[in-house]
Amino acid sequence: MLDPSADEIRDWSNSVIQLMTDYLGDLRDRPVYRRMSSREIRDGLDAALPAKGTDFDGLLKVFREDIIPFSRQNAHPRMFGYVQSPGTPLAAFADLLASLLNANLTVWRSAPAPVELERLTIDWIRQILGFNARAGGLFVSGGSMANLAAIAAARQTKDDSSGRLRIYASRETHFSVAKAAALLGIGRNNVCHVAVDERFKIRVDDLVAKITADLEEGYVPFCVVANAGTVNTGAVDPLAEIREIADRFQLWMHVDGSYGAFAVLAESARKLFAGMERADSIALDPHKWLYLPVDVGCVIYREPEIARSAYGHEAEYTRIIGEEADEAFAFWDYGPELSRRFRALKVWMLLKGVGLDFLGEAIESNLACARHFESMVRVSDDFEMVAPVELSIFCFRHVPVQLRNESPQTIDAFNERLLIALQRDGSSYLSNATLGGRFALRGCVLNYRTTLRDMEILLDDLRRVARSLPTSASAQISRQP
Ligand SMILES: Cc1ncc(COP(=O)(O)O)c(C=O)c1O
Repeated sequence: MLDPSADEIRDWSNSVIQLMTDYLGDLRDRPVYRRMSSREIRDGLDAALPAKGTDFDGLLKVFREDIIPFSRQNAHPRMFGYVQSPGTPLAAFADLLASLLNANLTVWRSAPAPVELERLTIDWIRQILGFNARAGGLFVSGGSMANLAAIAAARQTKDDSSGRLRIYASRETHFSVAKAAALLGIGRNNVCHVAVDERFKIRVDDLVAKITADLEEGYVPFCVVANAGTVNTGAVDPLAEIREIADRFQLWMHVDGSYGAFAVLAESARKLFAGMERADSIALDPHKWLYLPVDVGCVIYREPEIARSAYGHEAEYTRIIGEEADEAFAFWDYGPELSRRFRALKVWMLLKGVGLDFLGEAIESNLACARHFESMVRVSDDFEMVAPVELSIFCFRHVPVQLRNESPQTIDAFNERLLIALQRDGSSYLSNATLGGRFALRGCVLNYRTTLRDMEILLDDLRRVARSLPTSASAQISRQP
């Protein structure tokens, strides 16, 4: 098994390709999700510590019978939960090839061509975003790690000996920013949550007021985090205005574009991102809106040398001897990891293989799906939008006629039950958000397979499931105290 013959490799590959084509062939007909329990899954897995091996067919059988049916089908066109990409066969092959070569992208001499490919791909992303030619960065595991990497670099710009550093971000900012502040010793409490307007965008007047008040109290403001697509509603903060405020108060401007920034490829959304190219750093997630499978996040720094001052570390076992600058290049000088997978291969294959024109069209189509859903909700008399659609996220609630005069709590509780019932039903999958203290159903279109018709099916599914809830609206109301 460790060192299979060429014939064995061919056999294994044929079986895997068969599984892959079968899987993708009836993906639309599968439930996105099904009711299952931890016990049921554990019972299916042979838990005995394996002293002897199992042949490849046996391993694949477990994957086919005990893993696939008990997984959420993230590639399904009506998987609208969270911020979930579908993956793509091209990237599955890229991941296979990356593991085959097993390149370790620490430093140029460890993986010369893979490192060059990562630098090239990062430069393509830099160009997509419109950053200056000096900007650079690297791939990391995801958006959370990209936010952490950038905030660590931002910290280099101010003297942090006082222990009074402050970061500013809207209330809608992803929790990974507060987590990064905690991990970096800045402290969760030193992330100031700035108010948002009715479109869930940061309120710049509140941002200025909070910075000013902090300065008066002797805090050291050093960073403002702007969202290029919030996780809850997809709101894009006013990036150009935030740049001006950052300049005025000499703050590092970091953009969390993990969900939304690649929508700059879509003509109809492009203007929302004006000013993004002037950020000091940006977090991105090719494993979100470039449709790639996990894991691949990305951080770009406008001045990579500042990041180098945060990450550069000399140790005898990593000393690079006798190399020219390009060949002495080390990714460990710009991010937290030492050993790094060849993540760049799937990003490069996607950009080179699919091309920006087609990717832009796919993102445009996702935006159109979310807008179509919003317009159907707005003309309906049993659904209401809870936030405007900015990109491809839609937040809404179901208010059937029987509930129209009920309290917000009753309506929220009904929608919460509806969400669980919808997930168990399996035809469509949504997640949830809390907006203005109220429960909201939340969907995110992030799949090139999703069509306008899928959005109509989602609404039909919701109505159908709502009608068949064991505790129907009227039954529920009658049980309310
Ligand atoms: C806006 C935003 N930032 C950061 C993250 C974290 O990304 P990751 O899950 O890749 O760590 C997410 C995840 O959904 C996100 O939507």
